[in-house]
Amino acid sequence: MQIHTTITSLRAALEGGGQISFVPTMGNLHEGHAALMRQAGGLGDCLVSSLFVNRLQFGPREDFDTYPRTFAADCEKMAAAGVAHLFAPDEGEMYPRPQSFHVQPDPAQADILEGEFRPGFFRGVATVVMKLFAIVQPQVAVFGKKDYQQLMIIRNMVRELNLPVEIVAGETVRDADGLALSSRNGYLTAAERAEAPRLHRVLQAIRQAIAGGARDWARLEDKAMAELAAHGWAPQYVAVRKQLDLQYPAAHDSGLVVLGAALLGSTRLIDNLEV
Ligand code: PAJ
Repeated sequence: MQIHTTITSLRAALEGGGQISFVPTMGNLHEGHAALMRQAGGLGDCLVSSLFVNRLQFGPREDFDTYPRTFAADCEKMAAAGVAHLFAPDEGEMYPRPQSFHVQPDPAQADILEGEFRPGFFRGVATVVMKLFAIVQPQVAVFGKKDYQQLMIIRNMVRELNLPVEIVAGETVRDADGLALSSRNGYLTAAERAEAPRLHRVLQAIRQAIAGGARDWARLEDKAMAELAAHGWAPQYVAVRKQLDLQYPAAHDSGLVVLGAALLGSTRLIDNLEV
């Protein structure tokens, strides 16, 4: 695997290399990232990944400074997953001057759910992904369903800005007890780690209720939030939405997704399940 810290070096290496598939990351890689990389490897001739902890998408009170940085281990995992070229720029390479142009998604998509609790998050994500697409110029890029709203917003950005890249979704990889893998799981204490799969379980219970005919979304959401709160969580949202645009479903709608976010101690966990 070649490691490039500059755009010039990456571009030179990618020239004439055929169809490029791409998986952007912020590092601290786990099996969820590796699965996306293996999936992307089957979709092109040349697999590129990036590792960049993007300050633009972190709020002032979020964990930018403490976000786990594990470069050597990440390189090993990327190489094992078949990555041919890793783009790992420093901040000066990505933002040589303060970024004065941004990709601003529609508030109807970006200020709901995650965006309500992380103002500016999707503007930061969309802006860096747009830059990464311009730098790497992939034909295919793979994003995880773990970050369902991010996936939707990237799809919409690509469609509305006519970017010549196909967006492919990767399934969420979970531990045996159901907890979705996340770089932030490492923040959990042993007791919190034992409690953490409850988020997945309350979403599963909603999925089951809907499969059984339940259509009273608000009641299902409130019950899940109450169960989390009763076990020491600070739930932020549990929401039944339409997969396509994450807007409120009518009673007859199908193609739903149930999404949740909650704090367990000081760690913020998110998860979702398609229904
Ligand atoms: P990061 O959190 O490192 O995630 C990189 C990719 O891995 C995203 O597409 C995410 O959805 C996917 N992913 C994370 N956990 C997963 C899991 N358990 N199963 C499957 N896929 C999983 O998402 C970002 O970085 C950033 O916002 C980024 C897109 C790189 C822009 O900075």
